[in-house]
Amino acid sequence: MTDTLVRITGLSVDLPDAGTPVRVLDDVSFDIPAGTTVGLIGETGSGKTMTAMAIIGLLPEGAAVSGSIMFGDTDLVHCDDARLRALRRDELSMIFQDPLSSLNPTQRIGRQVGEVLRRSGLPRAEVQERVIDMLDRVGIPDPAGRARDYPHEFSGGLRQRAMIAMAMIARPSLVLADEPTTALDVTVQARVLSLLRKLQVEEGSAMLLVSHDLRVMSHVAQDLVVLYAGRVAERGTASAVLHRPAHPYTRALVRSVPAIRTKTAIADPLPGTSASPAQRPSGCAFHPRCPLATDRCHTETPALREVAPGRWSACHYAEKVLS
Ligand SMILES: Nc1ncnc2c1ncn2[C@@H]1O[C@H](COP(=O)(O)OP(=O)(O)O)[C@@H](O)[C@H]1O
Ligand SMILES: [Mg+2]
Repeated sequence: MTDTLVRITGLSVDLPDAGTPVRVLDDVSFDIPAGTTVGLIGETGSGKTMTAMAIIGLLPEGAAVSGSIMFGDTDLVHCDDARLRALRRDELSMIFQDPLSSLNPTQRIGRQVGEVLRRSGLPRAEVQERVIDMLDRVGIPDPAGRARDYPHEFSGGLRQRAMIAMAMIARPSLVLADEPTTALDVTVQARVLSLLRKLQVEEGSAMLLVSHDLRVMSHVAQDLVVLYAGRVAERGTASAVLHRPAHPYTRALVRSVPAIRTKTAIADPLPGTSASPAQRPSGCAFHPRCPLATDRCHTETPALREVAPGRWSACHYAEKVLS
């Protein structure tokens, strides 16, 4: 058995939207076991980024949060800023979609990558040495020379490698990677992802990986959490979720990807449009798009329940979907 690193229970987030709060996450629960990769999937707007932001304590101004995010004995929802800053220095790190927005344009790459070590009081010479070693490990050529460059002197791929170096240098116990390769050229995406994966395994970190690429997920993630309109539609091991979905939404998602679909070579696009949390349909939010929907689905919100050992689904008819 692996230890649980993070336990999220009943996490709900309301964001102020022109005065009326919008519930962008609703009763989200899942665990991140230490040293493993948990994949988070779902269409745009389903709450993937907000989940990562809630864990690292960077939700937008005015967010109202309930539920708990236990990291060891610390509840990240209720802990003070000083503790959260210390955790962000020592234990939690985040890799964003767009490295340019998270790198400081006026600071040399080496300085930024070493920042977290400097703040933890490591001597200058040792920081310098660790930075160059890390830049080398993420595949940046001439690391000692390139450490003196500014972000604009790096290509997109090198910038994301520098971001990975920055996220991994303090050997965090959890890395949050929010679509870490989508801003990159397709040809370098796979290489950057496998680099991230390699470092994560070497450092023994756990990872919450947000990606809409199910093929990537099937290779990288041990567990999968599927979000729909801010709620967990289903979760389980990645292979079970992808090969034997327990929710019609996941089934449609899997069928929309040619390589994952087994029955025919042609992908079926997802029917209808995704539900916005601001105008969440009644009952099961997926019902307007669901081929199995009955009257019950229009009125009764399905609870997330264990439908097979380790399989959780929020569908009234999960057993039917599974069979
Ligand atoms: N700053 C914000 N203020 C209000 N609503 C927001 C804000 N950021 C995101 N949202 C809304 O929260 C929902 C979830 O967003 P997000 O977590 O970014 O989705 P995802 O990452 O899955 O695409 C979306 O409906 C989005 O419109
Ligand atoms: Mg997002």
